Amino acid sequence: MRRSMLISRAARQMRMYSARPAARDTTGHPKVTIQTIKKLYAERKPIALMTAYDYPTAVACERAGVDMVLVGDSLAMVALGHDDTSQITMDEMIHHSKAVSRGLRSPFIVTDLPFGSYQSDERTAVENAVRMVKEGRAEAVKLETGRRGAPKIEAIVNGAGIPVVGHIGLTPQTAVALGGFRVQGKSLASAQSLVDDALALQEAGCFAMVLEAMPSLVAETITRLLRVPTIGIGAGPATSGQALVLSDMVGMFDRFTPKFCQSYSDLGPRMADAVGEYKKEVRNGAFPVEGVHTYAMPAAAEESWRAYVQQQFGLELGGNKSEEGVASTVQV
Ligand code: KIV
Repeated sequence: MRRSMLISRAARQMRMYSARPAARDTTGHPKVTIQTIKKLYAERKPIALMTAYDYPTAVACERAGVDMVLVGDSLAMVALGHDDTSQITMDEMIHHSKAVSRGLRSPFIVTDLPFGSYQSDERTAVENAVRMVKEGRAEAVKLETGRRGAPKIEAIVNGAGIPVVGHIGLTPQTAVALGGFRVQGKSLASAQSLVDDALALQEAGCFAMVLEAMPSLVAETITRLLRVPTIGIGAGPATSGQALVLSDMVGMFDRFTPKFCQSYSDLGPRMADAVGEYKKEVRNGAFPVEGVHTYAMPAAAEESWRAYVQQQFGLELGGNKSEEGVASTVQV
C-alpha cells in the first residue's frame, strides 16, 4: 500500500479518535421546566421521575425522556454502599449532581439537600440550596421534612428564589427517628399528621411533593387536597406522578428491593456475568485478539522496530504482522 494511503488511513483513525460523540446525547426531547410540570399536572398526565447518580445513569434518563431526574441521596446507599443516607455530605451530593447534569439536557433536575445541610437554621438552608444550584447545577432542591422544616423551605423559595420539592412519609434521612424504614400514615393520627405536613409544605412554597411509603388512600387524600403535584414512591396510583430508585428497578442494588418497586431489568447479575466472562477470557488468552483489539505500527516502522529489538535485546517479537501494515483497530 502506498505511503500516502497509509497516512490518510492513519489520519482517518485519528479523526475517529478525536470525534467521539458529544458528551450529551441529543434526543430531541424538549426541555422540561416548572411550567411543563404544572401543565402535566393540570392535564392530569402522570409525571415520571427517576433517580440518577452519575453521567451514564443520567444519559439513560435523558434517552428515556423522563420528566424529572432526582439526584437522590439514596445514592449514599445504592452507589456508595453506606448503610443509610445520613452520612452523605454536601460536597459529595454536589459532585454527583454535577455529573448527572452533564448527562442531561431535557429532564428537570432536582437534587436532594443531604441530612445536616438544612436542619439547623434558615441561613444555612439557603446557603446550601444556593450551592446546590451554583455548583451542583440543580434546578430545584428537595428537602426531606415535615412541617417543622417549613420555615427553611420558605426561606429557600422566597429568600433565594430556588424551587423546592418537599418529601414526606418515609423520610430515609430520619429513618432512625421513624423506627427504621417503615411505611408511614397507617394509623389515623399518623395519616392526619401527614396531611398537616403536606399542607404546611405547600404553604411554605413547595412546587411539588414526594410522598414515600404510605397507604394509597392517604396519598390519594393528600393529592386531592393539594394544588401542587405529588410524586409517589410506594404511595399507590392516585398521585400526580411516580418515582423509583433507578438502581432498584434495574436490579443494580444487591441488598434489598422495596415491596413497591417494579423490576424492569437485571443489570446487576448481567454485569457480574459480563465481568466473569471477561475474566475467563483473560485467563485462557481469548482476549485480546490481535488485529481486533490492537493497534499496529505502520509497516516500515514495524520492520525497523523488529530489527532494532532483535539486534538490541535478542528478542524475536510475535504479534500478527498485518498485511497492510496497519492492523484493523477497534473504534476508539
Ligand atoms: O433519595 C432518593 O432517591 C429519594 C427517592 C426515594 C424519592 O428521595
